[in-house]
Amino acid sequence: MNDYTKILLADSPEALSEAAELIKSGQVVAIPTETVYGLAANAFDQTAVKRIFEAKGRPQDNPLIVHLHSIEAVSEVAKEVPKLARKLFSAFSPGPLTIVLPKKKEVPYITSGGLETVGVRIPDNENVRELIKLCGVPLSAPSANISGKPSPTTAAHVYDDLQGKIPLILDGGVCRVGLESTVISLDGDRIKILRPGKVTAKMLSEYGEVIIDKGVTESVSEMKKPTSPGMKYKHYAPECDITIIEGSLDEFIGYFNNNADEKTFALMFDDDIFDIKNRINYGNESEFFSLLRELDKKGIKKVFARCPIKDAQLALYNRLIRAAGYKIINANSFSEVR
Ligand code: TXA
Ligand code: MG
Repeated sequence: MNDYTKILLADSPEALSEAAELIKSGQVVAIPTETVYGLAANAFDQTAVKRIFEAKGRPQDNPLIVHLHSIEAVSEVAKEVPKLARKLFSAFSPGPLTIVLPKKKEVPYITSGGLETVGVRIPDNENVRELIKLCGVPLSAPSANISGKPSPTTAAHVYDDLQGKIPLILDGGVCRVGLESTVISLDGDRIKILRPGKVTAKMLSEYGEVIIDKGVTESVSEMKKPTSPGMKYKHYAPECDITIIEGSLDEFIGYFNNNADEKTFALMFDDDIFDIKNRINYGNESEFFSLLRELDKKGIKKVFARCPIKDAQLALYNRLIRAAGYKIINANSFSEVR
């Protein structure tokens, strides 16, 4: 364990070579990507990957995404790369798309969470792709937060969570996308969304029939075997108690006025017209995780949240229901939906 965590700007050859040396020697390093910051280690090195799980306090059955510098490198970790996967990588990579493929035996089970598959992605960050090249191996990297906390979208978020537990954070500024990559698996010509993200169902539907896994919009804590192990963990949860209020703006206001005490905050869409002191705005969806961290920093204990439109804002909806621990109330009937 290190008791000192260094932060270096990612946009520097010296910083990248220092990061590569650390990774090659079996250490973990936090890296910026276009989605969220990741905690990276040599995907082939079991001891190094174990360090990721230790630093994050992550359950061992939750697999890690393997990050590559190019499409050509996919065959280093995947046993088979179906035509559809190649097409999708060509269309959306580098970018926020992870495809689950059959793994090669070189990928240890600690990386794949004991599965025969591996999630693969090529991040849209030049410095990080350069780093992967320098390391000469693929990098396993989950989001660089303490398990259960909101994913980090700045180097400061990573520092808040992992200070003293990792030797180096590469600072690449604020993550452009701000929500984690879309995770999909393939079944012949069909594309199944396991985690929604910036690459949407509509975008994917140009390449095949798209199915949205049940775990995307529902609680799978009761399911014995969720399609993606990450689904079953309470993710993105701030300390703050969030309840989602389904219904129109008027219904939300009615519910809020009847049920909020003076310490309850209203989390609303930017263009909602509702004049109240305890109001927070969603802002851009890329700022959602920052906002969750802000709630705790400000000591806000209770929030009633407007409900995003499921289809149009699936990625945000998916993160919000987890942040709320699946507490959704229908303002119309005042009954708990889930
Ligand atoms: O944008 C991202 O994907 C970020 C950045 C750092 O790349 N990474 C990230 O990793 O969000 P993580 O570990 O926090 O989330 C990975 C998700 C988990 O829900 C996990 O269960 C799922 O992807 N996953 C990974 N490999 C899988 C596999 N072989 N089969 C099914 N699901 C898998
Ligand atoms: Mg995560």
